[in-house]
Amino acid sequence: MRILAIETSCDETAAAIVEDHNYQPVVISNIVASQMEVHAETGGVIPNIAARLHTENLPRVLKEVTKSGRLTYDAVAVTAGPGLVGCLLIGMSAAKTIAMARNLPFFAINHLEGHIYSAWLSGEKPELPALIVIVSGGHTELILMERHGYYQHLGRTRDDAAGEAFDKVARLLELGYPGGPILSELATHGKDNAFDLPIGLNENDSLEFSFSGLKGAVSHLVQKLPQPLARHTKADIAASFQKTVSETIKKKMLRAMHSYPGIQTVCLVGGVAANKHLRHTLEQAVHQDHPQTRFIVPPFEYCTDNAAMIGAAAVFHHLFGRPDSWSRVEADPNLSL
Ligand code: KG4
Ligand code: ZN
Repeated sequence: MRILAIETSCDETAAAIVEDHNYQPVVISNIVASQMEVHAETGGVIPNIAARLHTENLPRVLKEVTKSGRLTYDAVAVTAGPGLVGCLLIGMSAAKTIAMARNLPFFAINHLEGHIYSAWLSGEKPELPALIVIVSGGHTELILMERHGYYQHLGRTRDDAAGEAFDKVARLLELGYPGGPILSELATHGKDNAFDLPIGLNENDSLEFSFSGLKGAVSHLVQKLPQPLARHTKADIAASFQKTVSETIKKKMLRAMHSYPGIQTVCLVGGVAANKHLRHTLEQAVHQDHPQTRFIVPPFEYCTDNAAMIGAAAVFHHLFGRPDSWSRVEADPNLSL
């Protein structure tokens, strides 16, 4: 089965062709048209501009991903939610039209499920049960996955998501957009023990996250320091903040592994999984405390939003579930897993 996948839930217009090779999704073609430059001018994503850019970019992205129609496929998959409704609708309409016109099976995929299955694009086969650590711009979740298609939420954020915290702190430091990658680059020049910042919901048994207190602490710190902030001070704040986020996620991950013994694999996924400090911190912690458990993180290109991960999830819907009826599925900005 070869699947054409489309993802337009936020600010990346993406399409991919993914094939099932004996229960392993293989990416045949993958295109992401980023809107980053446009949103950098306004300092964030403006939903109706993002939707208009999807309309402009999607035809070209589809042409490129199919190599002008030379690559064929047997099914269509699309992100149905969660996301910005105007953006979701663009991908949804395109996918429905292709499925209807060509009479192909149609798969509606949850964006978070896409992030989960990005772990299957690492070249390794994650063994179940797996602990999935999703860290993106909109979500921070610990999920226990015992079987394909079954997701048990162990903990999630009560306020800001990890990526959102990176973006907000980057704004406080006036670093520009997109905040996460710029802040993490700056952090490489700073001292991560320069400032002591709080770990949210640090009670012994909590698997929930909270990043708003951390963001508040950075805001307070910035106000107290002499203005304008020197470059090296910003780098020290960035490094201390990044370390605190990594330590927070590490603590909760280890707690979850302690509470649910038998976890074979830990998968770190989502846009913030592109953060090298976080990847390294979690990998070290798993190797040290649970040497039998494998740690998997997708290649950088499959951490931030892309359509290959939507195709990978659709491969497993095809293998373990069944297609959706395109006439019955609608874009849902609040779709839950
Ligand atoms: O998964 P994603 O592309 O979109 C959502 O589904 O939300 O995640 C985007 C988030 C943004 O908040 C961005 O700042 C963050 O991922 N991000 C990073 C890095 N690269 C992207 N955060 C920290 N370090 C990075 N290197
Ligand atoms: Zn995402």
